[in-house]
Amino acid sequence: MEAGPGKFIVDGTLGGGGHSELFLKAGARVMGVDRDPEALAHARRRLAAYGDRFITWEGNFACLPEAPEIQQGGKADGLLLDLGVSSRQLDAAERGFSFMREGPLDMRMGPSSPRSAADVVNTWDEAELVRIMFEYGEEKRSRRIARAIVERRATKPFETTTELAGCIEKAIGRRGRIHPATRAFQAIRMAVNEELDSLATALANAPAVLKPGGLLLVITFHSLEDRMVKRFLKHRSSPFIDEPGWPEPRPNPDYQFQRLARKAIAPSTEEINSNPRARSAKLRVARLLDNQS
Ligand SMILES: C[S@@+](CC[C@H](N)C(=O)[O-])C[C@H]1O[C@@H](n2cnc3c(N)ncnc32)[C@H](O)[C@@H]1O
Repeated sequence: MEAGPGKFIVDGTLGGGGHSELFLKAGARVMGVDRDPEALAHARRRLAAYGDRFITWEGNFACLPEAPEIQQGGKADGLLLDLGVSSRQLDAAERGFSFMREGPLDMRMGPSSPRSAADVVNTWDEAELVRIMFEYGEEKRSRRIARAIVERRATKPFETTTELAGCIEKAIGRRGRIHPATRAFQAIRMAVNEELDSLATALANAPAVLKPGGLLLVITFHSLEDRMVKRFLKHRSSPFIDEPGWPEPRPNPDYQFQRLARKAIAPSTEEINSNPRARSAKLRVARLLDNQS
């Protein structure tokens, strides 16, 4: 992305501030956005040297049109969404994201997340637990896990990450190198933070955040999220739409973007070696058409 002097970039997922720092180093002005106040505080300290070229906004990236900078007409040359949780969040036991570290069953990215993981695990119907683990976690043994959760919580509600991880391991056993709670924890985190809803709204709102010609960049780590971005960009970058039964294709009223690559861009081997988390990352990039305002 061209992030030089005179450019304004919205980093919708500030996290540790790594991407923002690259944009600032290139000379751009950056608004770092995160729903996690701890991430914002950390990045503000880390990026203080860039002075007023770096500003922050605490909130959900789904609500970017409400950010004062955007409200005052400061539309962006680029909007980056690097989805998921940061390694800082994963590593902090007290945030409850990790089944490897004992902590409260929380998993909220920030105060705007409507519920904690304990709320989900201790109060949601068995069928809902099956659904989220199957859909968000692609967990084939979701029924068995949900049954075990419901049986255990009837005697004692879950309080900690390790209690939940232990219950899941007991229910489905351990096979291979991946911890048996990996998929369930991912699913619960996505439900706690309503991650798919936030992404859908953020994509729909992107044209209100970008200048005409501005770039939208989305990095996903999950096939459901990548499919959502892919479908959104495919539809919004088609000048015409066609349906069976129509005599001819019709102009697409949602035609707003130009895809810069049809396929998702995968990280290089070098990137994966320096950041193993990037292994399953996919980047999709599109440009808002010049006639959009
Ligand atoms: C993968 S990390 C970003 C890492 C960052 N690009 C860096 O270079 O350090 C994702 C961050 O986005 C934040 N986040 C995730 N979903 C969000 C949402 N809907 N609104 C605002 N922030 C969100 C998380 O709190 C987390 O800090």
